[in-house]
Amino acid sequence: MKNIILLGPPGAGKGTQADLICDLFKIPKISTGDMLREAVASGSELGLEVSNILDSGRLVSDDIIGSLIKDRLTKPDCINGSLFDGVPRTIGQAEQLAKMNIDFTHVIEIHVEDQIIVDRMSGRRVHPKSGRNYHIDFNPPDKEGVDNETGDPLIQREDDKPETVLKRLHVYHEQTKPLTDFYINLSNAGNLKFFTIDGSKSVESVFQQISIQL
Ligand code: AP5
Repeated sequence: MKNIILLGPPGAGKGTQADLICDLFKIPKISTGDMLREAVASGSELGLEVSNILDSGRLVSDDIIGSLIKDRLTKPDCINGSLFDGVPRTIGQAEQLAKMNIDFTHVIEIHVEDQIIVDRMSGRRVHPKSGRNYHIDFNPPDKEGVDNETGDPLIQREDDKPETVLKRLHVYHEQTKPLTDFYINLSNAGNLKFFTIDGSKSVESVFQQISIQL
């Protein structure tokens, strides 16, 4: 059973590595970013509430995230473990997860310098339905502008504008980075395995570094 958390700044490659890890272990990806974007696309009440927050690069409330996760964990596909992509993102969320009786086995922090991230984000393209990520130079789709599996058109995310990326990085350093020490402490207490990976290498090399630790 693997319950894995992926930590790291926006654009570190969490979503990209999450897809590879989930394929390897046949576990579902729980991405709050994907869930929130789906809510926005569907025009649901939640979507209307969070749309501006996503576009501005701020975080949605811990209460909303807590109830999304609680609901997601009731689905049968989580029975053999899950991969948490981009959640938790605050100490408050980590404390909520700790109360949900999830037996976390690994926390992976993907480290990438801010300047590399700003450069990466401008080239990102996304398949909105699945959350599959591409990069026009570093991880291009087989055919330009379309998703490899479905052939649907790829889009550029609204929050990938340079000024919003800078805001997201600021929010990351202020609210999410403290989770490193939170999970190192749990790792030192023998509750799970924490490790940091250099995310500036190629997609394949980052995946190889991760796989040997899992
Ligand atoms: P979310 O969708 O989770 O965004 P994020 O964490 O900011 O991360 P990204 O999806 O931007 O990047 P990533 O690390 O997954 O990198 P990727 O693999 O795509 O959240 C969006 C928003 O939702 C938040 O701002 C917030 O408002 C809200 N939200 C979500 N969860 C929340 C929570 N828990 N609490 C509160 N609010 C929440 O890669 C990026 C690009 O780089 C791609 O183009 C990719 O192809 C490329 N790439 C990947 N790896 C490499 C590599 N090794 N070398 C070169 N290029 C690479």
